[in-house]
Formats: sequence, C-alpha cells, structure tokens
Amino acid sequence: MSNFMVYGATGYTGSLIAREAVQRAMRPVLAGRNAESLATLAGELGLDHRVFALDAPGTIADGLRGIHTLLNCAGPFSRTARPMVDACLRVRTNYLDITGEADVFEALAARDAEARAAGIALLPGVGFDVVPSDCLSAHLKRRLPTATRLNLGFQSSGRLSRGTALTALEGLAEGGLVRENGIIRRVPAAWKTRTIDFGNGPAKAITIPWGDIATAFHSTGIPNVEVYMAAPWSIRVGARLSRWLGWLLGSRVVQSRLRRRILAGRPGPTEEERRGNRCYFWGKAMDESGGKAVARQQTPDGYDLTVQTAITSVARVLSGAVPPGFKTPAMAFGPDFILEISGVTRTDESRDRRDRT
Ligand SMILES: NC(=O)c1ccc[n+]([C@@H]2O[C@H](COP(=O)([O-])OP(=O)(O)OC[C@H]3O[C@@H](n4cnc5c(N)ncnc54)[C@H](OP(=O)(O)O)[C@@H]3O)[C@@H](O)[C@H]2O)c1
Repeated sequence: MSNFMVYGATGYTGSLIAREAVQRAMRPVLAGRNAESLATLAGELGLDHRVFALDAPGTIADGLRGIHTLLNCAGPFSRTARPMVDACLRVRTNYLDITGEADVFEALAARDAEARAAGIALLPGVGFDVVPSDCLSAHLKRRLPTATRLNLGFQSSGRLSRGTALTALEGLAEGGLVRENGIIRRVPAAWKTRTIDFGNGPAKAITIPWGDIATAFHSTGIPNVEVYMAAPWSIRVGARLSRWLGWLLGSRVVQSRLRRRILAGRPGPTEEERRGNRCYFWGKAMDESGGKAVARQQTPDGYDLTVQTAITSVARVLSGAVPPGFKTPAMAFGPDFILEISGVTRTDESRDRRDRT
C-alpha cells in the first residue's frame, strides 16, 4: 500500500496529504522540483524523496521509475498534467491528480485509449473538486435515469490556499463555461444567477466554470450542465464587471501584480480555520417530461476533504480496484464513494416536497 508518489509534496495541499498518509501508516515517495524543501519534509516524515522538474520528458520518466501510482498535487494542472501523463504512459504508472480545471479533464478524457493500451488509470479530480459534486451528479442520475439537465451548486466560506488562488487567477479573464447538448460552451462570467437552498436557507449563487462542466457529462451522460457557487453581493458584482474587464484581467501587468499579492499571502487556511468550515452541495436533475430529483450534501472543509478523498482514491488504485482508462471519481468508485468519507452526509429531497430552488 505504499508504492505511490506525491508530486508537489511541499505545496500546501501536497504536504497535508503527505502528513495524513504517514498517519495512516502509508509511506509515499515525496517528489517535487525544490530539493531543499523536499529534503526537509522527507526528513521530518522519514520518507524517501526524489527531485525532478517537469520540463524534460526523460527526467520525469526516470523520476517515476518503479512507482505504481502517482498523485500529482502540483498545480495549475494546465502546466503539469500533460508532461506527467506523457511520462506515466511511458513507464506505466497510474495517474491521479487534484485538478478542478475543466480543460485538463477534457484533455485527459481524450487520452482514454492511450491509457487503456498502456494499462494505466487516468483519474483526475480526486479532491474537493470534483469528488463530492461528481458523486452527487451520479447519485441524481441514478435517481432520475431519464435526466437531460443537471444543475449543481456549492457553498463554502473557507479561505483559499495560494495555489488555488493562483490557479483561479489563470482563468480569471476567460469567463464562464456551461455544457449544452453535450458540448462545452464559453459564456460570460456569472452568466446566470439563481437562488439556491443549500439546506440552510436561500442563498444567491452564480454560474462558474467548475470542473463538473467537464466531468459530470462523462460520469452521467447528462448533456446539459450548469454549476453554481454561492457568492455574496460583492463577488457577484465583481464577476459581472470582469466581463468587461477581461482584457485587463488577462493582461500581463495585472496578472503579475495579482500574482505577487497572492504569493505575499499565507500558504492556506490554518487547521483551526479548516475545522470551523463546512461545505454545502446542492444538485438538481431534470428530464424532458417534468421529472426532477434534488439532493444535498454536507462535507468538511475543502482542503480536509481533499486530503481524505485523495488518499482513499490512491489506496483504491493501489489495491487494483480501478481498471485502466480515463475515469472520473464517480466512474471509478460509484456515487456513494463520498459517503465513505468521515463527516459527509447526503439527503434526498422527497419527490412530493415543493421544490423552492
Ligand atoms: N481539487 C481540489 O479541490 C483542490 C484542492 C486543493 C488544491 N487544489 C489545486 O492543487 C494545486 C496546488 O494547490 P496548493 O494549495 O497545494 O498550492 P501550493 O501551496 O502553491 O503548492 C503547489 C505545489 O506545486 C508545485 N508546482 C507548481 N507548478 C509546478 C510546475 N510547473 N512544476 C513542478 N512543480 C510545480 C509547487 O512547487 P514549487 O514550490 O517549487 O513552486 C508546489 O510544490 C492548485 O492548482 C489548486 O488549485 C485542488
């Protein structure tokens, strides 16, 4: 149960995962590009480590030699997933990551045949984005097999890590995404606003380009997908303003200024902040004859959840439970996988209750 590697192990999320793995008596090999911080962390945890960057294909393949399963925690994954997957295919190492980037999911889905031929699993998105929402999507599809539309939403008041903020910054100027008739379509930022009852009263939410725009279609076949995030007034207005400021937000000067500000901040939420945060998910599937199914989930903080779902996913792959090819979390583990994680609950709205959302 220990022949796996955590790449990006010295990042905020990677190091939480490495520490929890040790708590569970697993012994991952830690890896990344920063020799000094890796040696310090590996020394502290008593683990082996390997140093390699991702700019030379041969070096990555050498770095992965003998490794059964890789968990890539180095994001933005728009830069790291492709070279890592190329090397994983070459040396036949299973690939998992914690991306939430829709483009990355689509790029990996397109490599399904290569993964099958190499006999490896390609399993991106084993964190907060997208395990809970992907399981919710598959659960709703199970309840309403005729569904043709899926709306998902989440609400969290937790702080973002620097890495998450930097990844979000990359997509800031690009607006939103929805899936229509099976095709991913670019839409303006905060394209739609709606009121959602996440189980704790109504909240205003806006559409966002969340990873489920890619994954929910692969997991359920539902061809129309929108994803919403609960957002206070200031964020809703800011997101709408960004429609007209996209050129500015994408400019090199603004990007590097925002980047500097993010890098000057704390690496991520403290343990206490994470412990005080809960996340709420809502999903609604609809079909063409007026049928609908609604369900809600509550989970721990997104980073704590990511640690649990990522390690549990790795353990499943190490045990040989996941066949080769591209998989979303719900494809690999089923809709009830999320319920195996401590602190997660799910409730179905009964069909006769008036749907207020
Ligand atoms: N799916 C989810 O729910 C979820 C949850 C948590 C995080 N994430 C994502 O995971 C990523 C990491 O987040 P974080 O908070 O851990 O960030 P972080 O603290 O900034 O750590 C990022 C790590 O990735 C490494 N890295 C980044 N780009 C690299 C590259 N091109 N080549 C090699 N190594 C690279 C960094 O190495 P250096 O120190 O050498 O720069 C660092 O070790 C982000 O994209 C974030 O959005 C997703």
